[in-house]
Amino acid sequence: MTDVLGTVTDAVYVVAVLVFILGLKALSSPETARRGIIYAGVAMLAAVAVTFLSPGLSNFLLIAVGVMVGGGIGYYWARVVKMTAMPQMVAVFNGMGGGSAAAIAAVEILGGISDRTIVGLSIAGAVIGSISIAGSVIAFLKLQGWLPSKPLVLPARQVVSSAVLVVAVGFGVFGAVVSELTWFLPFFLLLLLYGVLLTLPIGGADMPVVISLFNALTGIAVALDGFALVSGPLGDAGYAMVIAGTLVGAAGSLLTVLMARAMNRSIGNVLFGAFGAVEESGGPIQGSMRPMEIDDAASLLEYANLVIVAPGYGMAVAQAQQKVKELTDVLEARGVTVKFAIHPVAGRMPGHMNVLLAEAGIAYDKLFDRDEINAEFPNADVVLVIGANDVVNPAARRAGSPLQGMPILDVDRAKNVLVIKRGQGKGFAGIENDLFYADNCHMLYGDAQAVAGKLVAAIKKS
Ligand code: TAP
Repeated sequence: MTDVLGTVTDAVYVVAVLVFILGLKALSSPETARRGIIYAGVAMLAAVAVTFLSPGLSNFLLIAVGVMVGGGIGYYWARVVKMTAMPQMVAVFNGMGGGSAAAIAAVEILGGISDRTIVGLSIAGAVIGSISIAGSVIAFLKLQGWLPSKPLVLPARQVVSSAVLVVAVGFGVFGAVVSELTWFLPFFLLLLLYGVLLTLPIGGADMPVVISLFNALTGIAVALDGFALVSGPLGDAGYAMVIAGTLVGAAGSLLTVLMARAMNRSIGNVLFGAFGAVEESGGPIQGSMRPMEIDDAASLLEYANLVIVAPGYGMAVAQAQQKVKELTDVLEARGVTVKFAIHPVAGRMPGHMNVLLAEAGIAYDKLFDRDEINAEFPNADVVLVIGANDVVNPAARRAGSPLQGMPILDVDRAKNVLVIKRGQGKGFAGIENDLFYADNCHMLYGDAQAVAGKLVAAIKKS
């Protein structure tokens, strides 16, 4: 009977892992992403469910209460969260994963220090998981506005935090060598402190990259815990954790690298560069920003052949995507071709613009990546920039700019550029935008949703 159960459990784990991989693959396109999430969720549910069949598992009531409380909170939060608050929700969910990995490692260590390999793996899992939960909590507090979003740069921060890490690991290794559990208390506390010290000097808007990195670390911690569990009574679950953790670790690492690359920054610069702490040097840009009346802007759009929309963080803040869809519809009804230029780091999280535009029902075939659309800007009669700033800032082509080298949307090369923003606010990088002062650029001041609505009304009445 136990053999049959074991075979069934193994088979479910193998299928679950295959479905994880299919889910991950489906997440690579907006068209299949929803399906990918469902696949991964069902696979996770199946893997968790069969773990209950593991021989020797006890404390069913406690586990069931934990699953219900955690699952209930997660379900409710995921349903009510606003799109703009998604990064902090991901930070918390991911932090919980890191915390769980650290807790599993703690149980392994506290269960008795007999097998050095298992203790070694558990120490590694504890180090990574503890840093991940502490860092994720700080990321959440910054994104939620409960801690200042600006980098908090402490004196000699790198020396202090490196020392904390070294001492923490020292406690863990010493505790393992002398087989004394008391050494593990300062070990865990110092690791949590290190996670805090690592994350405080990072600016709020860099948090998506950091969260993705912590996500990758959580995956690695889970995989290490899995190795430690393999020889115990939950051995099969250990294999599933190794594979799922490795997948998360690999996918999270790739995403982190891609995001950093799209900003032309190294991961070291994101982590240790305190980006945003220093204001831009150099004098003001010559010239002035010129506003345009809504009716004039509506005419410019209406009589264009090709309009390219470049959305950014401000569109997300204003929740303007529905009005943007209406604007697209009225322009297309008048024979205008409308395309969307999507920069990989527009907004505050990967795929932010794709998700918002898809939510509003804008067809995927109208969305073009930076590489696909950049050559088309000179042919565009009008580029409509909606709440984007850094990703359309030509300062990125200038030596000495903090944005230097960041690949941008070349919107300034269009015949006309209209920019919707509320006022003189800077982008995330905190620097002036040369585009707004260009001869071919006019400003439409106001909240993105309100301005897009006014453009729709003006075009409809003409
Ligand atoms: P930003 O550079 O952040 O600029 C957003 C602009 O939107 C601001 O200039 C602001 O100007 C305007 N705005 C804010 N609220 C608005 C509203 N309600 N209506 C109209 N406009 C509004 O945005 P971006 O161009 O999308 O660039 C994203 C930045 O985030 C990049 O620097 C990128 O490196 C960074 N980042 C992105 C990610 C990911 S994965 N997407 C990750 C980490 C960092 P006003 O205040 O004048 O309105």
